Amino acid sequence: MHIILTGGTDGIGLSAAKQFLKMGHSLHLTYRSINKLKKLQYFIESKRLSKLVFFYKCDISEPENIKHFVSELSKRKIVFDCLINNAGVILFKKSFNSRGLEKVFAINHLGSFYLTKLLLEKTLIHANGKIINVGSSAHQKASLDFDDLDSKKTRSWYTRYSRSKLCNLLFTFELAKKLKNSGITVNCMHPGIVSTNIAQDRIGLMQFIIKTVLKLKGISPTEGADTIIFLATDKSVSHISGKYFVKRKISKTSPYAENISYAAQLWEASETIVKSFKFK
Ligand SMILES: NC(=O)c1ccc[n+]([C@@H]2O[C@H](COP(=O)([O-])OP(=O)(O)OC[C@H]3O[C@@H](n4cnc5c(N)ncnc54)[C@H](OP(=O)(O)O)[C@@H]3O)[C@@H](O)[C@H]2O)c1
Repeated sequence: MHIILTGGTDGIGLSAAKQFLKMGHSLHLTYRSINKLKKLQYFIESKRLSKLVFFYKCDISEPENIKHFVSELSKRKIVFDCLINNAGVILFKKSFNSRGLEKVFAINHLGSFYLTKLLLEKTLIHANGKIINVGSSAHQKASLDFDDLDSKKTRSWYTRYSRSKLCNLLFTFELAKKLKNSGITVNCMHPGIVSTNIAQDRIGLMQFIIKTVLKLKGISPTEGADTIIFLATDKSVSHISGKYFVKRKISKTSPYAENISYAAQLWEASETIVKSFKFK
C-alpha cells in the first residue's frame, strides 16, 4: 500500500510508521522537527527501508505548506491507498497561524480537512482507498461554538483541544456521507490514553501533570497505534465507513458528535475558511 501519514515522527504516528514499514508498505510522511526526523531516518537506514519512505516538510497549521505538500505528492504519479490524519497537538498557550486561526483548531481539524479535500479533489486517493482520522475520547463532553469555531475566545486549553477532537468526528461523519457511493471509506479512531510527548508547548506545572498522567496511566505508542494499523490493513473493515473505533471495535460517540446538522454546519464553515485562502 501507498500510505500518507501526518505526524509520523513522534508518538503514535511514529509507532504506526515503523509498523507499516515492517509490513512492507510505502510511506509518505510529513515532518516539522528535523531532530525527530533524524531519529526516524536512523531507524529506517538501520533496517534498510529507505526505498519505502518519502519525507515532506509540512507544518499542518499552515495552508501554504499543505498546498505545497499535495503538489509534491501529485508529482509522484501515485494514487494513494490510505490517508492517516494523525498530526495533533495539545497547546496550553493560545497561539495563531499566519491566517490568524488558533493553532489547535488549525492543526487538529482544519489541516486535516484541507489536506483531505485537496487530495480528493486531485483524485489522489484510490477508489477503494481509506481515510483514517485520529480523534480522541476527549470529544465526549465537548460542544462547538459556531461563532467562535477556532475557540479564540476560550481560555481553557482543554476546551480548545476537546472541541478540535469533536471536529475530527463531525468531519468524519460528514465526509462519509459525501463519499457514500465512491468506494472510499473514512473512519475516526481513539488510540487510548497513550504515553507520548503530546503536551509539549510550555514547560510548566500543567505540562508536568499531563506528562506524568500519560506516563503512569498511558499505554505504549505501539498499543496506541494498533487500531490505526487494524483500520488500514484488516480486510474485515475495508467496507466500513463513517464509524468511530476504539480498541478495534465500533464505539459510541457523544450525542453531539452524532448530530448530522452540526456535522453539515462544520463542513460548511470549514469550507468557507479554506475557500477564503489566498496564495501568492
Ligand atoms: N497521546 C494520547 O494520549 C492521545 C489520546 C487521544 C488522541 N490522541 C491523538 O493522537 C494523535 C497523535 O498524538 P501523539 O500523542 O502521538 O502526539 P505526539 O507524540 O506529540 O506526536 C504528534 C505528531 O504530530 C506532529 N505535529 C504536531 N504539530 C504539527 C504540525 N503543526 N504540523 C505537522 N505535524 C505536526 C508532531 O511532529 P513535531 O513534533 O515535529 O511537530 C508529531 O510527529 C493526535 O491527533 C492526538 O490528538 C493522543
